[in-house]
Amino acid sequence: MKSILFVCLGNICRSPIAQGVANKFVSKNHLDIVVDSCGTGDYHKGENPCQNSIKVSTEHGIDISKHQARAITKEDFKQFEMIVALDDSNIANLLKMGCPKEKLHKLGSFGYDNQDVPDPYFFNGFEGFEKVFLMIESCVHTLIKGIQK
Ligand code: 4NP
Repeated sequence: MKSILFVCLGNICRSPIAQGVANKFVSKNHLDIVVDSCGTGDYHKGENPCQNSIKVSTEHGIDISKHQARAITKEDFKQFEMIVALDDSNIANLLKMGCPKEKLHKLGSFGYDNQDVPDPYFFNGFEGFEKVFLMIESCVHTLIKGIQK
């Protein structure tokens, strides 16, 4: 079965949104794709997503409130077919940890000029989360449309 793991740093802001968007698309289109997310760091292990990520997702009809943050493991490198990082520093960390290059992708390469998805955790206020959501949504849809067949 196809499988995608979205990876950011803390697994509390960006990758849980990507996971939520992907899961909604997968179930709406009755696809057989396993989706998960994690962080390269374990600073927030066991925590639910940040309030603004929950809020922006809820506004788009997606409930990510029950996700619990976890850090990537070596097992993930075997289990998942695609490992999709949210920015270049995640890519660098994943390569250092032994992620197979051929599995590793950057979310921004799916229609956003290979841009980093900026970390809204360090933004002031909510506005940045809406921008980040729309960027993630567009890239995730393009990614899945490309592999669904
Ligand atoms: P994320 O954002 O990688 O999008 O989940 C972060 C949230 C918290 C921290 C880093 C990134 N932190 O170091 O506390």
